[in-house]
Amino acid sequence: MSELPLEMPTLPPSHGQVVLRPFTEADVPMLLDLSTDPYVPLIGTLPAHTDVPGAVAYIERQRAKVRNGAGYSFCAALASTGEAVGGAGLWLQQLEHGRATAGYAIAPAYRGRGLATDALRALTTFAWTVPGLHRVELYVEPWNVASCGVAGAAGFELEGLLRSHQEIGGSRVDMRLYAAVAPGDRPDLTPRRTPRGARR
Ligand SMILES: CC(C)(COP(=O)(O)OP(=O)(O)OC[C@H]1O[C@@H](n2cnc3c(N)ncnc32)[C@H](O)[C@@H]1OP(=O)(O)O)[C@@H](O)C(=O)NCCC(=O)NCCS
Repeated sequence: MSELPLEMPTLPPSHGQVVLRPFTEADVPMLLDLSTDPYVPLIGTLPAHTDVPGAVAYIERQRAKVRNGAGYSFCAALASTGEAVGGAGLWLQQLEHGRATAGYAIAPAYRGRGLATDALRALTTFAWTVPGLHRVELYVEPWNVASCGVAGAAGFELEGLLRSHQEIGGSRVDMRLYAAVAPGDRPDLTPRRTPRGARR
């Protein structure tokens, strides 16, 4: 966990078409649309086919996550108009080990225009400003080609397949692990020779 409370950045992270800002009640219509996606309610706390009070309660939960140090939950919005298009989160439960996980979703009406990629790029650039953070991980189900595409397009590398990693929608599922590491954090892979006679 991080130091409490977290504060949303004064300069909203942005990349390309997308700016990441706090959720407001004006984002409720986008959340109603997002909640019609069959997968989104399985991987977060937005209820399926939610109503206005359900969306407002979701927004309050996102604010609480910042206050209680769980992480940064951003609304992804169009930089040109401020119109909400989805969400992107940076979760800090493993911050003491220098790691975070990220998640993102774009409302159905806005998909297929590179918005998730821009949101993830903005989120990742912001992540490197979080003290002590060196690595951002994404867990993506292998069937989710759109999300795999987002991960690759945003510069994350596929590191492997985590078999039977967690339960989603009542079933154990495999997860692809993608990760990005902080600029300058690449390990030194230069081979080192063990001096003759030294113990290994
Ligand atoms: C996954 C999701 C965020 C993608 O959002 P998006 O804004 O449509 O994604 P982008 O437009 O940035 O697409 C990024 C890449 O993925 C590819 N892609 C997007 N949708 C795709 C699809 N349905 N099938 C195949 N490839 C797809 C794009 O071609 C693009 O690749 P490119 O840069 O080489 O052209 C969106 O579908 C979503 O919210 N899904 C439900 C929630 C979810 O799965 N979140 C991720 C959990 S790990």
